[in-house]
Amino acid sequence: MAANTTNKTAKLIINGDEANAAEFPILSGTEGPDVIDVRSLYKQTGMFTHDPGFMSTSSCESTITFIDGEKGILRHRGYDIADLAEKCTFLEVCHLLLYGELPNTKEKEEFERNITMHTMVHEQLQILYKGFPRRSHPMAILVGAVASLSAFYHDSLDIYDPEERDLASRRMIAKMPTLTAMAFKYSIGHPFVYPDNNLDFAANFLNMMFAVPCEQYKVSPVLSKAMNKLMILHADHEQNASTSTVRLASSSQANPFACIGAGISSLWGPAHGGANQAVIEMLDMIGDVKNIPEFIKRAKDKDDPFRLMGFGHRVYKNYDPRAAVIKDSCYEVLEELGAVDNPKLAIAMELEKIALNDEYFVQRKLFPNVDFYSGIIYEAMGIPTTLFTGLFAMSRTAGWVAQWQEMIADPDQKIGRPRQLYIGEGARKVLPPNKR
Ligand code: ACO
Repeated sequence: MAANTTNKTAKLIINGDEANAAEFPILSGTEGPDVIDVRSLYKQTGMFTHDPGFMSTSSCESTITFIDGEKGILRHRGYDIADLAEKCTFLEVCHLLLYGELPNTKEKEEFERNITMHTMVHEQLQILYKGFPRRSHPMAILVGAVASLSAFYHDSLDIYDPEERDLASRRMIAKMPTLTAMAFKYSIGHPFVYPDNNLDFAANFLNMMFAVPCEQYKVSPVLSKAMNKLMILHADHEQNASTSTVRLASSSQANPFACIGAGISSLWGPAHGGANQAVIEMLDMIGDVKNIPEFIKRAKDKDDPFRLMGFGHRVYKNYDPRAAVIKDSCYEVLEELGAVDNPKLAIAMELEKIALNDEYFVQRKLFPNVDFYSGIIYEAMGIPTTLFTGLFAMSRTAGWVAQWQEMIADPDQKIGRPRQLYIGEGARKVLPPNKR
């Protein structure tokens, strides 16, 4: 699939000079806004576009994920996210992201076998983990551990060989739950639990998190179903900050494991994947439903840096479709755990109700995002707050590797190299220290 060239063009008249207007093709995709192809802008005008934060810039063609932020739509390869979350396993969605189609029964079995063959990590990695302080943030460990896989698999990886790319992708997806659970076990001083390939992907992760060698641990089917759903909801989200980081880092043909490490670093920030941790911290800080008005007031105050965490999104100007699915799962999980009267859930629901009716939030189209309810489920499952973003990284790895594969296979792929508007000093001479 490729973008369609339309017969529409965009003209750029600079300083009223119509005779020398620059002209650009307009491309259209299958859905979503058309784009003005400005690749020849510099050649035609000697100027660059200036778009910090990529507010109006498309950086690539992609067939993986479509978002309509105004309508609150998220689809992977044409399938609605709620449909996928309801009917599929996470590994089926990984197959969809990587290969373009949901697997049939035979492909599903093969893919699952293929992934489970790679769930173990090199024993040497235990030594790497043990070098970190016990109190390290799990994201710091994950950045290091995932990037370190490049040391284990560098020589066996030719990124221009589709089979080797595929093997690297499957390794990444398979090893992330193991590495994430190891970060948790290390932080609490428990022995690492090896993967159990008799369990499904989500249940295996919960087992590595919560099993201990001295007693039997049985994964609750309700919790593994919820974990499966959460993984699907976080699997991909087109060209967000971490995915764009992975693409940009890999555009230099660097080792993909190291590039996923870069993506994890980007995800860690509270404006991105780190928001799920920040939501729980905020709900703790609010403490009681009666304190909500004070925090709403603070969120609206431009002199106060406080923001309602889990609210707002660069693309969604409507309810984040993932948040709607998570909200329903939240009740199911809390019911299973006998914790429906969870005070954080009560605060979150009241906060949402007030914000959705408040002029400030309505006007700016600030709705709950994927992170608003996910933390409540994770916390109820016994996952520590600092590991929430690690769980996000584990799931998003599917999207990262799919986007990486798509980029490397694209014949138009070039090293990413944005330009800038220089506003520093003009040319000057170095003076001796006593004259500066
Ligand atoms: N609370 C209060 N006000 C907000 C919030 C919020 N959560 N989010 C945005 N606003 C306000 C801004 O102050 C700004 O107001 P103004 O127009 O009066 O100046 C307006 O809404 C637009 O906000 P921007 O920051 O310009 O929007 P942007 O698209 O750059 O930011 C972001 C999006 C970073 C997600 C922002 O909404 C935010 O910080 N939210 C809280 C953090 C969060 O939940 N992040 C998770 C995002 S989802 C994800 O990455 C998985």
